[in-house]
Order: sequence, then structure tokens, then C-alpha cells
Amino acid sequence: MRVLLSLDTVLSCSLAYFFRVFGVVTVKKKSRAKKKPPHKKNRIRRVGILTGGGDCPGLNAVIRAVAKTLITETGAGIVGIRDGFYGLVMGQARELSYLDVSGILTQGGTILGSSNKDNPFDFYLPVGPKVVRKDCSKMALANYKKWKLDALVCLGGDGTMFVANRLIKMGMNIVGVPKTIDNDLAETDRTFGFDTAVSVVTEAVDRVHSTAASHHRCLVVETMGRYAGWIALYAGVAGGADIILIPEIPFNPEAVCEVVSSRYNRRKYATIIVVAEGAMPRGGKAVVEREISDSPDPVRLGGISKVVADLVEKRTGVESRAIILGHVQRGGTPTAFDRALATRYGYRAAQLVAKGRFGRIPVLKGNRITDVPIRRIAGKVRKVARNNPLIKAARGVNTSFGV
Ligand code: F6P
Repeated sequence: MRVLLSLDTVLSCSLAYFFRVFGVVTVKKKSRAKKKPPHKKNRIRRVGILTGGGDCPGLNAVIRAVAKTLITETGAGIVGIRDGFYGLVMGQARELSYLDVSGILTQGGTILGSSNKDNPFDFYLPVGPKVVRKDCSKMALANYKKWKLDALVCLGGDGTMFVANRLIKMGMNIVGVPKTIDNDLAETDRTFGFDTAVSVVTEAVDRVHSTAASHHRCLVVETMGRYAGWIALYAGVAGGADIILIPEIPFNPEAVCEVVSSRYNRRKYATIIVVAEGAMPRGGKAVVEREISDSPDPVRLGGISKVVADLVEKRTGVESRAIILGHVQRGGTPTAFDRALATRYGYRAAQLVAKGRFGRIPVLKGNRITDVPIRRIAGKVRKVARNNPLIKAARGVNTSFGV
């Protein structure tokens, strides 16, 4: 060990001498002296952060990664804005210290609060006991200036990015982070939160197998996902569903019943159907659970599982039940995959801010994090392609898509 150490020392001394003689060290020193810390270069002193849209596991992991990286690398102060764009318009925010964002990696939800209703350009402004509907984007800009923000990091889905894109045009320096359990954002292979939602649904499907078998029933499990079938597809395959119904493949009720009946005739008395909330029969429409008038995207889907369960029971005679998993898919601690992805996204977002590369959003392509302009994501929905490899694999193991 001693001999190895001394050899090592001799080697490094002679290398240092060699570099000094040939001037290599001088060149290196010069470039080091020129390099300014990023905060001096771009003067990033204060950065706001908000979480918009429906909450999702991994939001706190992103907040932590953005804040810790920026505090460490640029020395910036972090301003946490309350309840998404609501807080930006109403001027509700607080300073976030390093300690504030420590220990939140595994926490579900968002420490900042969120809102999937508030759009500064069409805002429901509380004025005394009344609510006035008006464009409050100038109030949002005024708060951005009042808080002396050099940049604002917006965590959200297509709706949040749609608003962010308009705020950019008003002069705000914005960096986005792609969030949603639905995994339906354009330009990115994965949004954080999706993996957790799929795990929750898969566990639920695993559990209903035994009760369906005990009672010789058809159980229809409904997932979230809006107009895209990503959650139902992944959890349906992972949970071994017999039938998966997604919005991208409108189903034929006859075909669904035929699968249930033919299984019954082969003494497979139980059938598991996983249905996305946005699924619909051929020529039919998605089932709307409610409309929220003060929301920019007022339609809330829900109830297709009951339609399918009733149809199956009526036409096949197999007793059926509907199970709507609902918000349980959005709650709780993120999976290891989502924690890691959220940290990668948050770190990249902080880098974009530090380098002054505003108007951009980190995305995942394959296993690589890169970034694209926010406008390419704003207001767009990424659906499951009919030739998705997972659909092909599912068909390979005789999973039906109800067609
Ligand atoms: O976009 C996320 C999501 O959870 C959708 O899957 C679902 O349709 C919707 O939000 C539910 O919204 P809310 O929280 O308003 O009921």
C-alpha cells in the first residue's frame, strides 16, 4: 500500500512538472479564471415556483430538486406560489428555504397547493362577497414584478403550459416541468406521476381478481386518464385484465359481451375489464360525470364502468360490478421511478433557469432528458397510437380491446 502511494505521488509530481513546462496548466488556469458562476452571468436572484392543474405524486420531489439545485448553484431565493395561478394573481406566496424543501421527496400532493380551475386570462376574481369574471393577467404580471422574480418555474400539464405560454408572451421568464398522472403530454415519453398511478391501479386489479373468481363475476375497473388511455393500457396489461377499453379504440359492445360469454363457457367464470374513463362505444360518446363551470376545462369524465357492467350483466347474465378508482390514483407517495424522474426533471428545469434558457420544458425521450419550447406542449394531448407496441403485446396474449 505504502509503495503504491509513493509511486502515485512520484507520477503526479512528474506530470505536474511536465504540464508546467509545456504551458498546459497556464491555459487551463486562464479558462478557469474566465468562467463566471452562472448566477453572476445571468443574474438569477429570485425564482418563483408554482404547481398547476390536478395534483400528482412527485410534485414535491420536483419542487425539492428545483429549489435545492438553484439555491446551491446560483444562490437564488425561492418564492413558493400558493395554489398555482390563483396565488400568482392574488399575490399569495412565501419564501422557501433549503430546509423547507428538505424531507419532502416522498410526500404525495404538493406543499404549495394546486388548482385546476384558475386561468389568469379568464379569472374568477373574488371582490367582497361577489365573484367577477375577468382577465387578470396584468395582476399576475404585477406580482411577478413585485416579487422581483427573474424566472418562474411552472409544474403542470397541457392546460398549465397553455397559460404559461401566454404569460411568456407578456414578458415572464418561464420554465415548465411536465406533470400529470395521465401521461398525455405532447413531446415527452413520460410525465412524472404516471408510474405511481399505474402501480395503484395494478394493485387494485390484482386484488379484484380473487373476489371476481370467488363470486363468478365480471368486475369492471375504471381508471382516470381523460381522453387518453395510457393508465388503463399499462395497468390493464400489468394486472392481467381480460379486456382493456381505451378512448383511442372505441369498443363494440357485442365484442365485449362475446369475450365474457366465451370465457364463461370455457369455465372461466370471472372476467376483469379495465376501462379508461374516456372510453366510449363505437359511434357513442364519453360519459360525463359533471361539468365545472368555472374551470377552463369544465368536463369531468366518469361512469363508463357502470355502463359497461350493466351492459355485460344484461346481455350475458354474468353478474357484474363497477369499481371507479378515482382520486386514489393521484394520492400518496410516488414510486421510486417517479421520484427519480421528478428529480431529473427538477434538476434540468433548474439548469434551464440558471442558463437563462427560458420558455422551455424538460422532456424525456427514451431514457434521455432533453428540452423543447413550451409552446410545443401547450394545450395539446398525446394519445395512445393504435400501433403502440404494448397493444400488440397485449393482443399477443389474447387480451381483448373490445373490437
Ligand atoms: O388530469 C388529471 C386528472 O386526474 C384526470 O385523469 C381526471 O379526469 C381529472 O384530473 C379529475 O379532475 P378533478 O380533480 O377536478 O376531479
